[in-house]
Amino acid sequence: MSNLPTFSALQVMQDAPVIPVIVLNDVAHAVPMARALVAGGIRMLEVTLRTPQALACIEAIAREVPEAVVGAGTVRTKADAQAAANAGSRFAVSPGYTSAVGQACRDAGLALLPGVASGSEIMMAQEDGFTELKFFPAMQAGGPAMLKAWSGPFFDVRFCPTGGVTLQNAPEFLALPNVVCVGGSWLVPADAVAAGDWARVTALAQATHALRK
Ligand code: 3PG
Repeated sequence: MSNLPTFSALQVMQDAPVIPVIVLNDVAHAVPMARALVAGGIRMLEVTLRTPQALACIEAIAREVPEAVVGAGTVRTKADAQAAANAGSRFAVSPGYTSAVGQACRDAGLALLPGVASGSEIMMAQEDGFTELKFFPAMQAGGPAMLKAWSGPFFDVRFCPTGGVTLQNAPEFLALPNVVCVGGSWLVPADAVAAGDWARVTALAQATHALRK
């Protein structure tokens, strides 16, 4: 059993204005990428389970970058949740929600940010005790106007909009009372990772602090 501190979904959301959504194809990139984000003041890192190397990347970050808090994104099944926890993930993010994934994350000791895009999905997640949710895909599913509409009936839910969020449109989301942080892949551009341009990743991370609520 790890003796590392545990984080609630709300703490994961409150740590910085942006949770980076990270896609890695090469384990060798994991540690320098994580160090670059930490150097820019971002320590909650969502490594998506979208590549064969993702779990090994999570393991490497958990082992070698103690200043980071690594989580798994794209958690869609019970097996994903278990594998993510075994690799050293400290939180999970899912693109949608099922009770099975919610329970698997609880069983694995992982804070979960469940993805929702409709009122029914919010109600299902709430029924299972989740009140901090990822709004995905945020721009495509209605953007800030959708979050304003949800703030009435779902006054007790807080969101992390992700999907189509950029440095430019993030302020509009972050200005909403029911938004705690946003998620986005723009902090870790594929070309910067491929080129090992870690200074660019650090600069992109630093630039997000101007967004602080
Ligand atoms: C995700 O994969 O969770 C989101 O699609 C990230 O969206 P973005 O690439 O538009 O930031």
